[in-house]
Amino acid sequence: MPNLTVVGAQWGDEGKGKVVDLLTEKADVVIRFAGGNNAGHTLVVDGRTVVVHLLPSGVVRERCICMLGDGMVVDPAALQQEMESVAAAGIDLTGRLKVSGRAHLILPYHLILDALRETTREALGTTKRGVGPAYEDKAARRGIRVIELLRPDRLEKRLAVAVEEANARIARQGGKTVDFQDMLDFCVEHGKRLAPYITDVSHELDLAIKAGKSVLFEGAQGLLLDLDHGTYPFVTSSTTLAGGASPGIGVSPAMLGNVVGVTKAYLTRVGEGPMPSQDDGEAGHHLATVGHEVGATTGRPRRCGWLDLVALRYAVRVSGIRYLALTKLDVLAGMGAIKVCVGYRLNGQELSLPPMDTADWSLVEPIYREVEGFDSLEGVSDFADLPPAAKAYVRMIEQDLAVKVALVSVGPGREASLPLHGVW
Ligand code: IMP
Repeated sequence: MPNLTVVGAQWGDEGKGKVVDLLTEKADVVIRFAGGNNAGHTLVVDGRTVVVHLLPSGVVRERCICMLGDGMVVDPAALQQEMESVAAAGIDLTGRLKVSGRAHLILPYHLILDALRETTREALGTTKRGVGPAYEDKAARRGIRVIELLRPDRLEKRLAVAVEEANARIARQGGKTVDFQDMLDFCVEHGKRLAPYITDVSHELDLAIKAGKSVLFEGAQGLLLDLDHGTYPFVTSSTTLAGGASPGIGVSPAMLGNVVGVTKAYLTRVGEGPMPSQDDGEAGHHLATVGHEVGATTGRPRRCGWLDLVALRYAVRVSGIRYLALTKLDVLAGMGAIKVCVGYRLNGQELSLPPMDTADWSLVEPIYREVEGFDSLEGVSDFADLPPAAKAYVRMIEQDLAVKVALVSVGPGREASLPLHGVW
């Protein structure tokens, strides 16, 4: 059976949750490969809203095995809380949640370090979930992995080093240090709770693939937040590329299948960093209010603006996107003429690529094309029934990016989705 990889093509919050939920109709396994509970995926199923941060968005499909891959960072307390909240929403996880023992842990001191950094001039506008500091510890080779929760006797020595390091940094920044014994108790307690779910996910996935199961690889955030390819340093601390699924799980890149990039019909961003097509006027206000542009994880208002084809072309190339899922087209309705950023201008020169230097990216002026707007898309359930200007908008994107739009979403529920092409 084929596999599929779904990634964000902008600065996150593109609506991956809904797209993954739709596409998992045909998936046996859905697996996340990077990031942690900095992500926030909102799913609306049968009028019920479920927000997941760590669990893959396939969680609402009871037949799907849900896996958290090796490249993730897992806050065990947040995972516990999320498992309880999906259980309260009537979703049964028994026997279908698997957490990689190789994933790294976000421990309470990582949250303190993340929050402290946000008070300094190095602030990035992070989600303050401890994701960055946990990946820093991983790269420094003092991170604690999920598997270590199961053997507290072995964990003690390494945890002591990690806590000492963290406390030194916390103290330097005037924060409240943590107690080693509290950290150990935290690990022991969560180890007991998570034990039934901890496994060798890379191996289990291999067995599933060999048994002919279909796998959906679910990315987090969006390409422009990628540690290497995004607007560094205003990025997250892990990979957001489709190809990142391979190292983030321990699976051959040949297994990733078609890549579906998710993009809004306009653009949003939370946190610091360049966003050339940001609109702080009436248009931005319309997008923010009609699109309910508030962060699913932090509740922060999102910066809003016009679709940026320069950034999107870059995302398509770097992530190898073959199909696009275009979300929130309905939000553009009733705005009158719609602007689309088709190029950048920097020091009088036109650019068709984002500049490598993020400082330059902050200085570029967007070059806009104005296209015809359209009115309400309410009740539209077939692409053929979209107003001609809305169809033309979709076709313009396809043509510019040389990719097929596989799905257009015109509302939050599953039913407000207009499929154009099969992607499996
Ligand atoms: P961190 O991932 O919490 O370290 O935050 C780094 C940057 O990525 C900040 O600008 C965040 O707002 C942004 N970010 C992280 N996760 C998401 C997400 O799921 N959606 C949108 N932005 C995100």
